[in-house]
Amino acid sequence: MAINSTRRVVVVTGASAGIGRATARLLGQRRACVGLLARGETGLRAAAAEIEAAGGEALAIPTDVSEYGAVDQAAGRVEERFGPIDAWINVAFTSVFAPFTEIDPDEFRRVTEVTYLGYVYGTMAALKRMRPRDSGVIVQVGSALGARSIPLQSAYCGAKHAVNGFTESLRTELMHEGSNIRVTVVQMPAVNTPQFSWVLSRLSKHPQPVPPIYQPEVAARGVIHALDHPHRKQYWLGASTVATISGQRLAPALLDRYLARTGYSSQQTDQPISSGRPANLWAPLDGAGGRDFGARGVFDDRSRAHSPQFWATRHRRSLAGATLMAGALAVSDWGRRRVQRRRVGGSPP
Ligand SMILES: NC(=O)c1ccc[n+]([C@@H]2O[C@H](COP(=O)([O-])OP(=O)(O)OC[C@H]3O[C@@H](n4cnc5c(N)ncnc54)[C@H](OP(=O)(O)O)[C@@H]3O)[C@@H](O)[C@H]2O)c1
Repeated sequence: MAINSTRRVVVVTGASAGIGRATARLLGQRRACVGLLARGETGLRAAAAEIEAAGGEALAIPTDVSEYGAVDQAAGRVEERFGPIDAWINVAFTSVFAPFTEIDPDEFRRVTEVTYLGYVYGTMAALKRMRPRDSGVIVQVGSALGARSIPLQSAYCGAKHAVNGFTESLRTELMHEGSNIRVTVVQMPAVNTPQFSWVLSRLSKHPQPVPPIYQPEVAARGVIHALDHPHRKQYWLGASTVATISGQRLAPALLDRYLARTGYSSQQTDQPISSGRPANLWAPLDGAGGRDFGARGVFDDRSRAHSPQFWATRHRRSLAGATLMAGALAVSDWGRRRVQRRRVGGSPP
């Protein structure tokens, strides 16, 4: 039985940690009704408590996004509890940090099933409910690495490219239908989340996001902005994302050489890690009996709390208006001075 009549109903996958968790928290502050999908019950419970403390409503549904049936069922439960889903945000992912030749076929498949098909299934479950109503928003949390692959993350980069690929097709189909449903992608920079502490790694040193690193709250604000303004095809968050995607468009071969030289060291700290470090590939580390990892990872002291680039994106209309206004004032001032000079020059001594 649906209890919601006015609040926005939003589903977030990967809501127990990292960017999904920070996004869910912001939705709670907006008093939204949030369906939280991930596997780890401890993380989900903590996310639900944060949303409810902020004034929102939460329904935590332990779900593995690599199974369509489970995702579809979760979507049904959210609608049963809160009413029609207004927005669906795909965030859940996993990866393996290792050279391609050191990744087993079943590990590669698992990353693809979670990180790519998880988005496909989430999008399908959302559209199944949004299309009959001809309304709704789908936000895909993407990555600069969905445009430019880097070493040691082949399965992840492949999946993120694939997310862009199917989303672009879908977008054109929705446009063809004249649909009012919107789908947009937010391409993220490096973010300080738990992934670097729990993703399966075969590296000898602790994995790290390639600096500059942003806090997950910056990423979450980007997601919420995209949710509110879903007409754009893509958002690029962070100057490093702009540089990476533009660099790839301008000089991909040069970037190949640069990444071959720097990509191994830039993704690892100096800190050794054991080869048997627990990983979340097949089962969650924040499940029953596990701890809550929260939104942030272990790189707080190196992470930025703001992105001036995205601030400018968000305020581009007022910035453009201010620039035009300043230009117009400068031109009119110049014209006034010119007339005055002519008058002074033309008057008798
Ligand atoms: N952090 C970055 O530097 C960065 C950069 C660019 C883009 N992104 C993108 O941002 C998104 C989130 O990344 P993040 O760094 O926040 O990741 P994270 O900290 O590792 O969190 C991943 C989330 O996905 C969930 N998850 C993992 N496997 C799942 C499965 N099989 N089924 C359901 N949920 C699953 C995890 O919860 P459970 O384990 O409890 O299921 C967790 O809630 C990803 O799409 C990633 O591509 C991140």
